Amino acid sequence: MTDAKKPRNLERERALRVLRSFSSGSEILSLATAVQESIGYVPPHVIPELAQVAELTSEQALTRIEQHPALRLSPPGRHQVTICTGKTCAGAGGARLVRIARQILDINLFRTTSDEAIRIEPFKCIGKCAMAPNIRINGDARGAMNEERFKLLLAALAKKP
Ligand code: FES
Repeated sequence: MTDAKKPRNLERERALRVLRSFSSGSEILSLATAVQESIGYVPPHVIPELAQVAELTSEQALTRIEQHPALRLSPPGRHQVTICTGKTCAGAGGARLVRIARQILDINLFRTTSDEAIRIEPFKCIGKCAMAPNIRINGDARGAMNEERFKLLLAALAKKP
């Protein structure tokens, strides 16, 4: 896979954008809270960057975050729905799937329904462009998604424990 084809994790990009608004030596819990407010949780894969801005080791940063009762290191929601918004998928209907998910679930991207059933997140190319538009449900890729199937999947997930 060339660099140009590497999947782009928009969640990570968003978290790092939040961190860029802080100066070096910022308090770790302020950083983690800002990231969580932006994307719903503190992804473990951004702990090294959080630690760097806070001028701590990754272990120190992780310990402080783990000890804080309001911070979470895993995404909220029982089901994670990731919608590919890479160029091929977006053009093949992925952009429409994002609109449908936002409308049906009444939430924005990187958010979770109030009953904690479903979280939706965009992703830039999951490397399966031939099967566009692609989504992932709890990490499992589903290609050639159409609107009707997508709506049925969301309805089923909403009821699934
Ligand atoms: S754009 Fe490549 S998998 Fe969606």
